[in-house]
Amino acid sequence: MEISRNNLFIEYFGYIDGKLYCEDVSIQNVASKVGTPIYIYSKKAILDKINQYKEAFKDYDTLICYALKANSNLSLLKIIEEQGLGADIVSGGELYKAKKAGFPSNRIVYAGVGKTDYEIEFAIREGILSFNVESLMELEVIDQIAKKYDKKANISIRINPDVDPKTHPYISTGLKKSKFGIDIDQGLDAYRYAAKFDNLNIIGIHCHIGSQITDISVYKEAAEKTADLVFKLKKEGIELQYFDMGGGLGIRYRPEDNVPTPKDLADIIIPVVKQTGLKLIIEPGRSIIGEAGALIAKVIFLKDKGDKHFVIVDSGMNDLIRPSIYNAYHHIVSVKQNSEKMVADIVGPICETGDFLGLEREIDKVERGDFIAVLSAGAYGASMSSNYNVRPKAAEVLIDGEKFSIIKEREDYRHISLFEEEIL
Ligand code: LLP
Repeated sequence: MEISRNNLFIEYFGYIDGKLYCEDVSIQNVASKVGTPIYIYSKKAILDKINQYKEAFKDYDTLICYALKANSNLSLLKIIEEQGLGADIVSGGELYKAKKAGFPSNRIVYAGVGKTDYEIEFAIREGILSFNVESLMELEVIDQIAKKYDKKANISIRINPDVDPKTHPYISTGLKKSKFGIDIDQGLDAYRYAAKFDNLNIIGIHCHIGSQITDISVYKEAAEKTADLVFKLKKEGIELQYFDMGGGLGIRYRPEDNVPTPKDLADIIIPVVKQTGLKLIIEPGRSIIGEAGALIAKVIFLKDKGDKHFVIVDSGMNDLIRPSIYNAYHHIVSVKQNSEKMVADIVGPICETGDFLGLEREIDKVERGDFIAVLSAGAYGASMSSNYNVRPKAAEVLIDGEKFSIIKEREDYRHISLFEEEIL
């Protein structure tokens, strides 16, 4: 059976002689050596995306802060930091990881509606570039804690511009009804209020309207509304330095997807931000790491229920929860090409009907012991994984040309129950 090279829609993943490769490494080889499930990431894909961003924004003073929530593997963070990017964090844990990976504090911005006193203290001690503040009460608390340390905390206010990002409702954040930010029509008062605190240093304005955005015009609307507020603030003598547009650029999940590029984003937001004269911050997460990663699983059983077929694999919603909670589509392919096809639900071993990676999918026919690859899984895959059903979290592997290295060891049963065993 002769199978020709047939590259996939995702760069750096493709078939050579009927076998799926990531860069120059056979995925079957990695899976056989490291075991499954595994997340694998292409280093070149990450670097390419970062370069696309740098190139697109090179003519405007822009700080690109990678959103750690998309994937916070330390080795990946280190690669990203080495490219000169900053970090967008949302918790003390992400601050800890950002610092461990080497991000300088003056490149770290911190959003989130529920920062605890401990987390605020941690960030003040580290002297981060900006707290992206989401409520008036948060302003008060940051001021009090900064006073305790005899410091001034840099803040930006997260404005909610009431723009529909036209994406999944669970990941739309810029609508008035959502819990995020301060309504744009209360923005002026919020800044006036912030200006009264001795231990706050107002440095910017922030907005993030949602994730997996494919209709780029929504950025223009959000940027224009935010810029309007910047002009009003200027009139009142409140001068800012940074205009943070958040993240959200969409990626390809289906072969037919056509998504905007970092250049498209730059072309739409820079002209608006330029009018304010402020430095730009952007916070991409998914678009840096999403297409660079795949989840590899092994077929445990095949099961037929009349005309319904199931491929049962050793990975499920605890490794990749996106299909279960957002009904998200991830393209799934067989690691070994086969001219025979099959249509099946590709499901995990977890005791929930919602535990599936893909439904009614046509894939190259697989047998027990074969591997499958779930594509575009680099973002919100490993970072949202859990130990549900007491399942150890997957190992993670970085591919770099012909080399591969384990960047996260597979958990074992002891890891999972460690903190319970300690008190038995
Ligand atoms: N900045 C802020 C303030 C954010 O809340 C987010 C994402 C980002 C930046 C990065 O957005 P990105 O460039 O990755 O779209 N778990 C969901 C996605 C949740 C996104 C939350 N916020 C999913 O799996 O689709």
